[in-house]
Amino acid sequence: MSDEEPDLDAAYGLKTPDDSKRLYAAWAKTYDAGFAARMDYCLPERVVKAFVGCCPQGPVLDIGAGTGLVGAHMAAAGLGPVDGVDICQEMLDVAAERGVYRLLFLGDMTGRLDVVDGAYGAVISSGTFTTGHVGPEALDEVLRVAATGAQIAISVSKAHWNAAGFAAKFAELAGQIADLKLKTVRIYGDKTEGAHALDEGYVVLFRKG
Ligand SMILES: C[S@@+](CC[C@H](N)C(=O)[O-])C[C@H]1O[C@@H](n2cnc3c(N)ncnc32)[C@H](O)[C@@H]1O
Repeated sequence: MSDEEPDLDAAYGLKTPDDSKRLYAAWAKTYDAGFAARMDYCLPERVVKAFVGCCPQGPVLDIGAGTGLVGAHMAAAGLGPVDGVDICQEMLDVAAERGVYRLLFLGDMTGRLDVVDGAYGAVISSGTFTTGHVGPEALDEVLRVAATGAQIAISVSKAHWNAAGFAAKFAELAGQIADLKLKTVRIYGDKTEGAHALDEGYVVLFRKG
């Protein structure tokens, strides 16, 4: 890894979970004040807003919690308790400093989390189901850790939705989920400029049936 701050192009170029661990370990300390501030990164707030509108019941699991931007918006909305899981300890260390999570733990969404079946009343995720990160196959693990009836809200970048087969995976899960809705949101705010300024994602809202 070079001394330069990692950027979006590096993030979208990730290939493996180990690549993610390395990139985010190098990014953790500058992610909020650098990337999130410079890009006017609004996705976590928009995912939380859509999630809260569905009246979820805790405890909530934040998947790919990163530096805890979702947890901060959840705390502002008065919703909890919230646990966070991420593949990168350095990102979780930054999240811990916010003091808004009940528990933060390491886990790889491409495998099995150290969580019992049905442990969470709701699941949220922002920015983690995206190019180079986590694909539709992880939805089975999301459903395993969610309780029956749990509200789930995950963002999926539009480019990843199309390229990674999310539509086919949701069709396959039709008998296990209910109330599926897609809400289109911009990932960045009006203050951002450059090639990714108008990037969009879906907030995918559904319940475990
Ligand atoms: C773009 S950041 C999003 C962080 C935070 N949710 C936000 O919106 O700011 C993506 C996060 O996903 C985590 N991640 C990447 N691959 C993962 C995996 N296989 N399992 C769990 N977390 C993963 C990264 O470490 C990183 O913290």
